[in-house]
Amino acid sequence: MLDIHCHILPGVDDGPKELSESLELARLLLLEGISYCVATPHFQVGMYEIGKQRVQELVIWLNKKLAENKIDLKVYPGMEISFSPEILSLLDREEICGINDSRYLLIESPQVTTPENINQLIFRLRLQGYVPVIAHPERSPLLQDNPDLTLQLINKGCLFQLNASSLVSENKPRETECAQRLIHSKAAHILASDAHSCDNRPPKLLHAFERACFLTGSREDAYNMVSRIPEYIISDQIYHPPEPRTVAKQNKGWKRFVPFLKF
Ligand SMILES: [Fe+2]
Repeated sequence: MLDIHCHILPGVDDGPKELSESLELARLLLLEGISYCVATPHFQVGMYEIGKQRVQELVIWLNKKLAENKIDLKVYPGMEISFSPEILSLLDREEICGINDSRYLLIESPQVTTPENINQLIFRLRLQGYVPVIAHPERSPLLQDNPDLTLQLINKGCLFQLNASSLVSENKPRETECAQRLIHSKAAHILASDAHSCDNRPPKLLHAFERACFLTGSREDAYNMVSRIPEYIISDQIYHPPEPRTVAKQNKGWKRFVPFLKF
């Protein structure tokens, strides 16, 4: 498997603090069946401002350390870019980069903005030839409650990346329900770990892959989400996603699972 969303670089964001934790996470990724991963430290203006060049240097260094420790995992450079209108100017100044420096930009699903702002930014990025890969849309309240916006973004050329934990955790009913809806609507293209360490948000990609096999009813479709489409992305090839079905409205049934909340 090829994991396109992983916080494996040490000491740069809320991922591993030390090299030893990164190596431990790399061993766990291998055990999960992941041979390749993309290091995607957060890039958020004023909070995490690791630049493109620093990410590339750290990835070369980490690959060297992995080889020295006989850990057979290959790491590619990338970043998880916070949603912001500044993305275009940051790209112009080459401060941020796509996944393995490709046209595919991993953009954190927006939490607080408007559909108009999202559509406008996506339109401008597409005009410049970038393909936004929206990270964990199932975690965004804006997208959870707005199937029309989901369809608009896919029709504009965005890809959607689900988090493995959203499919397999028992304590995230709203995210799980949304992730399942996206899979049933053929509106989920990639499954990735978004791992932060072995203890804090571990990978869970193997378990999620099995769950995706069940939900899609096709081992091949699930395999595409964890291997074939990620390969297109890191090699910067054009990928044409299938036409999504109408994305169903939120099923309020998830509220049954959180009886301590009042609605
Ligand atoms: Fe992340």
